[in-house]
Amino acid sequence: MTLFHSPSSPFVRKVMVLLHETGQLDRVALHSVTLSPISPSPDVNASNPAGKIPALRLADGNLLHDSRVIFEYLDQQHVGEPLIPREGPARWRRLTLASLADAILDAAVLIRYETFLRPVEKHWDVWLAAQQDKITRALSQFEEEAIAELTCHFDVAAIGVACALGYLDFRQPELDWRSHYPKLAGWYAEVSQRPSLQATQPPV
Ligand code: BEZ
Repeated sequence: MTLFHSPSSPFVRKVMVLLHETGQLDRVALHSVTLSPISPSPDVNASNPAGKIPALRLADGNLLHDSRVIFEYLDQQHVGEPLIPREGPARWRRLTLASLADAILDAAVLIRYETFLRPVEKHWDVWLAAQQDKITRALSQFEEEAIAELTCHFDVAAIGVACALGYLDFRQPELDWRSHYPKLAGWYAEVSQRPSLQATQPPV
């Protein structure tokens, strides 16, 4: 299989963490791409009209995207404990926590595009603040209501939150989220030592 990959994409990182955690790294070749919404990659667009990464080319030639689909597919290709519960209330709860982590990523990536790609005189401050508020609300919910659920399993939910916090460190270091969310900070200090997270850190 071939994974269309960029080391700075937090969505790619989720998939890479899964590959480490489930012992599947050697099943996937990485195809590095550089892209942004205004400079798409012809390689990626060829069979992936939305230009999404991660995308996974399977051995039979079929292409999967996006990170949620690839994560679920790869989670069904190993014999260890699933990273997404297969059924029952736990499945829907863990996927909902993972969706909230993805919402942090969506907002943080949109902020990155608005502030990095758009000319400064065109920045829309009200919109930026609304995206940042979404991040704040999601972090508060993880801190106040879900910390025990993150601590109990390193699965789809915990991987999503760890990648979201890592992306905030990467693109919003000034946010200083640790000083506002001490329980998340304690949890992250521990899980970020895992080899899967150490090996997939965003570039410096
Ligand atoms: C980034 O560089 O922040 C980035 C790269 C790819 C996808 C999303 C974000």
